[in-house]
Amino acid sequence: MSNKKYNYNEEIQRRRTFAIISHPDAGKTTLTEKFLLYGGAIREAGSVKSRRSNKHAVSDWMEIEKQRGISVTSSVLQFNYQDHCINILDTPGHQDFSEDTYRTLIAADSAVMVIDSNKGVEAQTKKLFQVCKMRGIPIFTFINKMDRLGRDPFDLIDDLEEALGIRSYPVDWPIGNGKDFRGVYNRLEKRIELFNEGNHGQSMANIVTGEVTDDAFRLLLGSDLHDKLLEDIELLDMAGDDFDLHKIINGELTPVYFGSALTNFGVEPFLQSFLDITPPPMARKSNLGYIDPEDRNFTGFIFKIQANMDPNHRDRIAFLRICSGQYEKGMTVNHVNMGKKVKLAQPQQFMAQDRVIVESAFSGDIIGLHDPGIFNIGDTLTFDNIPLEYEGIPQFAPEFFMKISTINAMKRKQFLKGLTQLAQEGTIQVYRRPFAGTEELIVGVVGVLQFEVLEYRLTHEYGVEINTQRMPYRFIRWVNDDFDMNKLNLTMDSLVGHDKDDRPVIFFQNEWSIRMIQERNKGLVLRETSLVTL
Ligand code: G4P
Repeated sequence: MSNKKYNYNEEIQRRRTFAIISHPDAGKTTLTEKFLLYGGAIREAGSVKSRRSNKHAVSDWMEIEKQRGISVTSSVLQFNYQDHCINILDTPGHQDFSEDTYRTLIAADSAVMVIDSNKGVEAQTKKLFQVCKMRGIPIFTFINKMDRLGRDPFDLIDDLEEALGIRSYPVDWPIGNGKDFRGVYNRLEKRIELFNEGNHGQSMANIVTGEVTDDAFRLLLGSDLHDKLLEDIELLDMAGDDFDLHKIINGELTPVYFGSALTNFGVEPFLQSFLDITPPPMARKSNLGYIDPEDRNFTGFIFKIQANMDPNHRDRIAFLRICSGQYEKGMTVNHVNMGKKVKLAQPQQFMAQDRVIVESAFSGDIIGLHDPGIFNIGDTLTFDNIPLEYEGIPQFAPEFFMKISTINAMKRKQFLKGLTQLAQEGTIQVYRRPFAGTEELIVGVVGVLQFEVLEYRLTHEYGVEINTQRMPYRFIRWVNDDFDMNKLNLTMDSLVGHDKDDRPVIFFQNEWSIRMIQERNKGLVLRETSLVTL
């Protein structure tokens, strides 16, 4: 046990656990890096980027990653900024988009959505937004790359509403655009913040602040920019939504900020405002009701399992989100789902640069537990001996499917073991359907790279060669329990199967078929996740 004394409630109140979501290239990595810069966790910007190309970086745990130089799994970073202890959950993008990306959002208390000012809302942002929306967590929008001539800010605000269906409240409004992007006007503080470039973004930007009506700003900005700013503010106040904290906390209104992660313009004002508004860890739903983060009984749930992070050991790391109580080194807890006691041997935390052994951790923190194969996604751990279980983690609808079988029938046992373990880790989802008197196995994934991960790992870890055949389906929906599947009226291009828990699912090739089947079958409810609530 550590000797350090903590003020338990203060520790919880200063924690902020959030995910950064975006479409690839919008600037998520750059913004994360700038947060670390402002938090003092790195001295110069550029180190996170170079880590990405470093073949032995924390998350580069598999050959396939090294070959491609991309990160297949998401990671967690912790650092301090002023009085806050920040946990950032990274959500992988590019082709490595997977169900993990969605599941990570279950562990977050809020989300920062990064949008490229030139592109507006993009496809991957939409999907991640939907998961945040389902959970009803606060979503903060950072419109990035304002140093490039992007779309009109009013246009971008409209885009949020049209593409995502969310109302917004611009907290910071940009002054100028592209080369003329000079700063922001903070509507809550009624204050101008002008930036001076900090060494091309390597060091922090200097900020000059003051009243918008101050003549000095008219001089500094020139009358054109100043007039435009006054007009914009008036229009926003007249036609825009009001600031409503309650709606923000419930995810119905997104506060919007403009900036440039590359040049650090607007990064710190955003971080400060975000930390002021976004809540500390809140109560989580369980079978025994809502559990308060300030409850002294240590509890948490596993939301992600990552295999072979350390290439020298074939270990798995299970990521636990602490929901109440305090973790202390060497602690023994109840594994509720297994009905056993487990000692949490040397959990790890992912500080800004390295993995470290955790001495103490609190509600809101994420710890990585060594997993000898005893944890599953959704498992609950508690200190007190009570049958507490946190709400299950849903399975999200995959979008790519293939038939899979083993080449060597003698290896069927290893093949099934491999599939089961990879499904438990959440790399893939497995479905079955009767075929020619036997059973056909279908694998579904959220991002196509997972097919390669699957093939690679079955060959290298389980010694199994496989046959695969891509299928034309792009959608899957779970069927409501009380629907009689014998009466189902299908379209020619759809297919019925069962998931790992034997729940019926339907595979579709396009949205038209989904609508068609919905219309043809009264009482049929089609769901995009296997659990209704989050
Ligand atoms: P991601 O994690 O969301 O995929 O995006 P990342 O931060 O890697 O940024 C993607 C590209 O956009 C990078 O350029 C990055 O430098 C650039 N970028 C990020 N923020 C800004 C910004 O505020 N303004 C401008 N103009 N560019 C920005 P790259 O050329 O792909 O990489 P690099 O050569 O700069 O490393």
